[in-house]
Amino acid sequence: MIVAPSLLSADFTRLGEEVEMINNSDADWLHVDVMDGVFVPNISIGFPVMRAVGRVLRKPMDVHLMIENPQNYISQTRDCGAAIMNIHQEACVHLDRAVSAIKAAGMKAAVTLNPSTPVVMLEDVIQELDMVLLMSVNPGFGGQAFIPGTIAKIGRLRELIERSGSKAVIEVDGGINERTGTDAARAGADAVVAGSFVFGAADPRQAIRTLKQL
Ligand code: DX5
Ligand code: ZN
Repeated sequence: MIVAPSLLSADFTRLGEEVEMINNSDADWLHVDVMDGVFVPNISIGFPVMRAVGRVLRKPMDVHLMIENPQNYISQTRDCGAAIMNIHQEACVHLDRAVSAIKAAGMKAAVTLNPSTPVVMLEDVIQELDMVLLMSVNPGFGGQAFIPGTIAKIGRLRELIERSGSKAVIEVDGGINERTGTDAARAGADAVVAGSFVFGAADPRQAIRTLKQL
């Protein structure tokens, strides 16, 4: 399992140490959540913090933009050191154009779906995608409960990917712990994001190892 701890649940008073913990862990990527208070009812961190994290991070940065008009922030995201740029289908009208621009900027292109958005919305762009991020909570906050219907949705996405010959990997975000991560892995997820399960653990690196083994 690819494991991407979510910085949202880190101790922001010790941000450098938290990033160093990730550097010295079995984590594959660091997931960074950006919120604008418009697309989601919360505001998290923005580009100056992301840029600082990017300077010390030695793993690929998986940036999840929960913002309106994410296509306006492609070069800024790249310049902060992002390897993967996730934009929401619901936040971007010209998705095909945005995906092309993300790839032209040298990043992996990922499209994120809210829990209420069906997989079929990606049918005509799936072949262009490096990753699909399925939200297993309504985005905006860490520490929420995993929405059980996500498991069947992972199966429907896997079926679409296979039918279309897409190489997209499936990442799942929200409410991931050992139990829900196991269910997601069985359903066909390639990657999981975990915030509170990792940063709320007594031993975060052990929590990462637990998810790696799923
Ligand atoms: C939620 C964010 C998630 C969040 C996950 O809007 O996209 O990445 O940090 O946190 P947990 O793992 O605590 O649900
Ligand atoms: Zn996220």
